[in-house]
Amino acid sequence: MPDEQIKNDVLSVPADGSRRDFFKRSAAAVAGLAAASIADIVPAIASQTAVENGIPVEKLSVNLNINGKEHSLPIDTRTSLLDALREQLQLTGSKKGCDHGQCGACTVIIDGRRQLSCLTLAAMCDGRKVTTIEGLAEGEKLHPMQAAFIERDGMQCGYCTPGQICSAVAMLDEARNGDASFVTENLGTVARGQRLSSDEIKERMSGNICRCGAYPNIVAAIDDVQTGGAK
Ligand code: FES
Ligand code: FES
Repeated sequence: MPDEQIKNDVLSVPADGSRRDFFKRSAAAVAGLAAASIADIVPAIASQTAVENGIPVEKLSVNLNINGKEHSLPIDTRTSLLDALREQLQLTGSKKGCDHGQCGACTVIIDGRRQLSCLTLAAMCDGRKVTTIEGLAEGEKLHPMQAAFIERDGMQCGYCTPGQICSAVAMLDEARNGDASFVTENLGTVARGQRLSSDEIKERMSGNICRCGAYPNIVAAIDDVQTGGAK
């Protein structure tokens, strides 16, 4: 189905008010979109079709900058960034908790923003800068957030910890940039470099679940870093 027709079908309102007709056309449009490959959507990335177990698999050649290092990978178009990191690059620090965007264990930093790598297609990260937990330390020197988590005992089993730390690092940058949160009291006076209350930290970190319940220590560690109290 031509792109223009798909777009028109998705966006158009039924002229005769017939909901049935509208849903029929919407379903056809969605089927058309599903049939379009990612290579069609991101035409700049070279693609090839390989056969795996007798099934044709479309692969893209994707350039990923992970922790400052360039990687050129053949990637199945359906591969999540999390799977590319863990299965293809053996960077297993990012954890797969739910694989459904609900726990935050897979959080990484992409171009300075925290994102769930289980819900991010690797192909969409072509040319972008990805930082994982493995890329935060400088050699033997831990990132202040890593040091604070250890100092404050902000973990028990440690499964959520890489995601918590990546999320906290980017979250403090959001606060420094003056981004508001759901519990920000006065949106008109949000300032850059704001000091976050513990309620703000809890709200902003609410996408990162800790089954061990280490939350008080996690909040304390983040507060240490924002106040410069971390070692
Ligand atoms: S594994 Fe990504 S949010 Fe749970
Ligand atoms: S330390 Fe165990 S899930 Fe958070």
